Amino acid sequence: MSSEQITTTPDGKPDAEQPRWRKDFPVDWPEDNFIARRDFTKFMVLTSFAFVAGQFWIVFQNFFRARRGEPLIERIAGKDEISVGGSLTFSYPEEHRRCVLVRTSETAFVAFSQECTHLSCAVVPEVEQNRFLCPCHQGIFDLKTGQPVAGPPRRGLDRIKLEIRQGAIYATGVEKRMV
Ligand code: FES
Repeated sequence: MSSEQITTTPDGKPDAEQPRWRKDFPVDWPEDNFIARRDFTKFMVLTSFAFVAGQFWIVFQNFFRARRGEPLIERIAGKDEISVGGSLTFSYPEEHRRCVLVRTSETAFVAFSQECTHLSCAVVPEVEQNRFLCPCHQGIFDLKTGQPVAGPPRRGLDRIKLEIRQGAIYATGVEKRMV
């Protein structure tokens, strides 16, 4: 430890008699490293706790949802796994129900059933044109609302309700479209 790493206190009293704030905000390098390690450990413990609490919250919610016959909360992907303008498909609420998640901006995501409301072909997101296209009969749905805008479909795509928690996107329910 070099001498310039250690400072003397202005009042010249020993460390044990120094106020608490001086220990929490040290100016000496060795103590500074100690505080950084301590803060890092505190951060890791709190983050882990938040993660575990989040997982318990989902298990707890799903327990009651299952009893009520409601769709379960399911993780789709991490926020960073999908770039702006990107999309990915997933199954929800049952394995055979294909859905598509689209990131429309830095902070906005939308998800809809991939099943066209005309004759059930799979719709494809075309983000630059702000639409979903059904290639079977050229049905077109608005990308943000899922409502039909051209072609044979008369009913909107079922919307998947989303929630973002701790950097991940979860499906939390289905909003059926009657019109
Ligand atoms: S099945 Fe989609 S437009 Fe006909």
